[in-house]
Amino acid sequence: MKNKSFVSIDDFTKEEIIEILDMAEEFEKQPIRDLLRNRVIATLFFEPSTRTRLSFESAINKLGGKIIGFADASISSVTKGESLHDTIRMVSSYSDLIVMRHQLEGSARYASEISSVPIINAGDGTNQHPTQTMLDLYSIRKTQGTLDNLNIFMVGDLKYGRTVHSLMMAMSRWNTTFNFISPEELKMPDENKIYLENLGLKYYEHSDFTDIISRADIIYMTRVQKERFSDPIEYEKVKNVYVLKNSMLANTKPNMRILHPLPRVNEISTDVDSSSKAYYFEQALNGVFTRQAILCKVLGIEL
Ligand code: CP
Repeated sequence: MKNKSFVSIDDFTKEEIIEILDMAEEFEKQPIRDLLRNRVIATLFFEPSTRTRLSFESAINKLGGKIIGFADASISSVTKGESLHDTIRMVSSYSDLIVMRHQLEGSARYASEISSVPIINAGDGTNQHPTQTMLDLYSIRKTQGTLDNLNIFMVGDLKYGRTVHSLMMAMSRWNTTFNFISPEELKMPDENKIYLENLGLKYYEHSDFTDIISRADIIYMTRVQKERFSDPIEYEKVKNVYVLKNSMLANTKPNMRILHPLPRVNEISTDVDSSSKAYYFEQALNGVFTRQAILCKVLGIEL
């Protein structure tokens, strides 16, 4: 897949995903390698980010690459009215690869059709966040020892949460049982459920999970995405509907792990942080190793 953009999790075969996870394991053992020397990577963040941008930039630095770009589009010529088309056309002539986050669904695919260099989608609106999914898969495999036959609880904003959309598509390849827990207003979109139905996979929808929490192998908590609501009153209604507390973990499986793409707001109480079942900060660290592997894979660089 040399010089192929990574826009959707479906751009990778199951075998390619495993190759990337295996490569990330090697980076975890030895993160400093001179594999991106003389390469210029552009990071274009039209939407705010802490983890995705900084873990990509850490990954690039550890591999000896150079970074250009912006963390805030208001300091770019977008403010003068420059189109995404022209921005991508220009930046692709200055760089070997572009990592892009943008607020519009489909923007990464559009950029990949214009760009002369590969595009890595760092999140396009409510659509997909495939590099987050790679670090989620890495974290799940590392903690569970397998990706096969797991029971995954996805909790919170399943409508706007791009991380759960990508993760659902990816995990559908490993015979996963999905439990979707959300308020009525934030249910998993029909198109995603149809995706599972077409594969003959089971999913269950719930409005509460306290009675079934003992079945979970992974609880994937998500933030209610305030920035996607047009009506602040609607956000206020659902913002604190799920708060995971340490007292709720008593009857969970010993090896169950709690993931969250972060940032969290209130959906995981800080009293969970000291639990051996809390894995979200380690999960974010795994982003450096998996993004090192993704950069190399997309550029066709072997270890
Ligand atoms: N998980 C994630 O995308 O975090 P950031 O928004 O901080 O990049």
